[in-house]
Amino acid sequence: MQVDLRSSWWIRDVEIPTRLVLAPMAGVSVQAFRRQGRRYGAGLVCSEMVSCAGLHHGNEKTLGYLRIASDERPLAVQIFGSEPEVMAEAARMVEDAGADLVDVNFGCPVKKVTKTGAGATLLEDPARACAVVAAVAKAVDVPVTVKMRRGIENGSRSCLELGPRQLYTGEADHALTAELVSLVDVPVIASGDVTSRPRAQAILATTGAAAVMVGRAAQGNPWALREIVDGDSDEPSREEVVAELVLFIRETARELGERRATGFLKKFYGWYLSRGRFPRPFKQELVQLESLDEVEQRLFAAAPGAVEALEHLEAELPSGEDDVILDLPISIYGGG
Ligand SMILES: Cc1cc2nc3c(=O)[nH]c(=O)nc-3n(C[C@H](O)[C@H](O)[C@H](O)COP(=O)(O)O)c2cc1C
Repeated sequence: MQVDLRSSWWIRDVEIPTRLVLAPMAGVSVQAFRRQGRRYGAGLVCSEMVSCAGLHHGNEKTLGYLRIASDERPLAVQIFGSEPEVMAEAARMVEDAGADLVDVNFGCPVKKVTKTGAGATLLEDPARACAVVAAVAKAVDVPVTVKMRRGIENGSRSCLELGPRQLYTGEADHALTAELVSLVDVPVIASGDVTSRPRAQAILATTGAAAVMVGRAAQGNPWALREIVDGDSDEPSREEVVAELVLFIRETARELGERRATGFLKKFYGWYLSRGRFPRPFKQELVQLESLDEVEQRLFAAAPGAVEALEHLEAELPSGEDDVILDLPISIYGGG
């Protein structure tokens, strides 16, 4: 059965307007990425994983992940950790910050995370995993979701053991997704290699998942989201690419501060400029530049029409007055 990607669905009382969820990606899912994802058709966006220990200790950089703008909602903030009480406290902070959902990370395979007993390690420790989810669910009123991988080892089926234990969403190898869907009575989101509309439709039709999640395909490429949700496969013009990239640069500089943003943004230049037929030396040149002003100037020189395209984009953005203002030191906002 064909699923309409532009139809809404619900996670308890949170309405998600499309069947496409933008994946949480550490080092990628800044606010500019999430807002852009919403503009191009994602029905739900996620923060990158946020350390519950970092929140507990009031780490400024970690607290900065809790800055939420009105036009990114519905938004899930993902937390990771292995201590039920610390996770519960983090979940309360996430809810207070205005997130619509709290997502618990049971999928991260990175050593820095798994060695603390968090992330994918929790898949191998179902008792602790359930204790974490129970504590988090008790602590907040918003729905709690869980993002998990199939297991740590290739071939593992851990997600099928844990999935039915009251978890709200799951992530699985797609061969397992349908099995997981049949075992739980909560919506399941399928994540992994969703790169095109036919693939998204096939996964939805064959697994019974409520939605698909898109990660790497959306890096520097919001047009992939539009293609998947609306079937609009028009390649963006050079001007559109530059306008979106400059907007992304400006918003990220505001969020992270110029210094952090300069390094953070470098990987995005290559991602964005693989559309619009930009020569390779041009991308390399951008990475070498020392200030974001210079990057902007070089981009506008390569696509002068982008200045006007950017004005249109900026005019359509909300003023930011609705941003949830947290009772936090202003320095975490990078001066924005
Ligand atoms: C750079 C990067 C960072 C990621 N960070 C997270 C994360 O913070 N939390 C999480 O649950 N998954 C994370 N993931 C996994 C993605 O959310 C997604 O499940 C995975 O990339 C598969 O989807 P894709 O094939 O569409 O990229 C990350 C993936 C990448 C590539």
